[in-house]
Amino acid sequence: MQPVWPWAEVRQTPIQAVYDLLMPDESAFHVARITDIDPVILYKILQLRMDVFIVEQDCAYADMDGRDVDPTTQHLWITDRDDVVSTIRILHDRDVVEFGRIVTAKSARGRGLSRQLIEAAFGLVGNVEVWIGAQAQHEGWYESLGFVRSGPNYLEDDIVHLPMTSPAGR
Ligand SMILES: CC(C)(COP(=O)(O)OP(=O)(O)OC[C@H]1O[C@@H](n2cnc3c(N)ncnc32)[C@H](O)[C@@H]1OP(=O)(O)O)[C@@H](O)C(=O)NCCC(=O)NCCS
Repeated sequence: MQPVWPWAEVRQTPIQAVYDLLMPDESAFHVARITDIDPVILYKILQLRMDVFIVEQDCAYADMDGRDVDPTTQHLWITDRDDVVSTIRILHDRDVVEFGRIVTAKSARGRGLSRQLIEAAFGLVGNVEVWIGAQAQHEGWYESLGFVRSGPNYLEDDIVHLPMTSPAGR
């Protein structure tokens, strides 16, 4: 499952058009607001986040922080058969677009899934600046996706993070 998606062509197009363009395989790529997500799939998205961010990273934190249900929040995920293997969410605040909860199942890493979801997210949000709070060990990876450091390191839930932004029109 390594589809090539025409990201450059989909910037600033309506969400449904982007969705249709990005669907090389009906079972692979998905984007929706929380109210449009099948409950079992939503369970699996949240389970993946819990398995990695809380269990694997040994970090007790409130993964479900209320932002998933914002009417403007977009959830993107990739399925492999019946499993959710990768996910990301896009938060839309008044002045800022933020990508977060970027995670791929341990068994599916290194296949470019998170990279594809981030590129898809860029395609969805269009020509705007994007902010992320990156775990420090992934700084180089995010740089390879066009993000640059925008401030000093900070500690969040005992994990070293840094703010990074991707300028509009990257
Ligand atoms: C970080 C994470 C989301 C990446 O997911 P992924 O689907 O494996 O990512 P991709 O396959 O798109 O990219 C991995 C590639 O980036 C490369 N890479 C990793 N770290 C890198 C770095 N610091 N600089 C440059 N490239 C890097 C890897 O070598 C790998 O390349 P390869 O595919 O040629 O082997 C995944 O490891 C994960 O879920 N980690 C735990 C949760 C987490 O920390 N999330 C991020 C919170 S900020």
